[in-house]
Amino acid sequence: MKNIALVGFMGTGKTTIAVLLADKLNIDYVDIDARIEAAECMAIADIFAAKGEQYFRRMEKDIVAQVSLLENKVIACGGGVVLDEENIKNLRKNGKIICLQASPEVILKRTKDYKHRPLLNVESPELRIRDLLEERKHYYAKADYIVDTSKLSVQEVTAKILSWLEGH
Ligand code: S3P
Repeated sequence: MKNIALVGFMGTGKTTIAVLLADKLNIDYVDIDARIEAAECMAIADIFAAKGEQYFRRMEKDIVAQVSLLENKVIACGGGVVLDEENIKNLRKNGKIICLQASPEVILKRTKDYKHRPLLNVESPELRIRDLLEERKHYYAKADYIVDTSKLSVQEVTAKILSWLEGH
């Protein structure tokens, strides 16, 4: 089986869904952000603070390229992976790309109590979420399949993906 890459904005449920989906498919799950943190021995927020976003994006690109060579994995991507066309090409070479979406209100609710996302550690995370969503919407639209997770349970989202995968 090919890989299944989950992309989408922060707080859309990628990591949670990736774990459940991998479990249902009986395959392994790989988390791009976790691999970056392990490689750098640093949390994402500290990498952004100490080395900058560009450095993080280069690391992210390297890890995406490496992970894209694997097979039978559910790959949970960070929200910005789609911004680099080469990342999309790599993920698609060996798999399907599924995008999880959610409304700005739901994203704010799901992310507001966590401080590990440097891009949302700003005075008005709500405004930042709306701006970034607008900026990124055409990148997320490149996915092979899109699921809006705003009003669905984790089980419902997973079931939708599994049923789409059956036909693809
Ligand atoms: C980012 C999303 C984060 C993480 C980093 C940058 C982004 O991952 O990669 O903070 O640019 O959207 P999650 O989407 O898993 O929170």
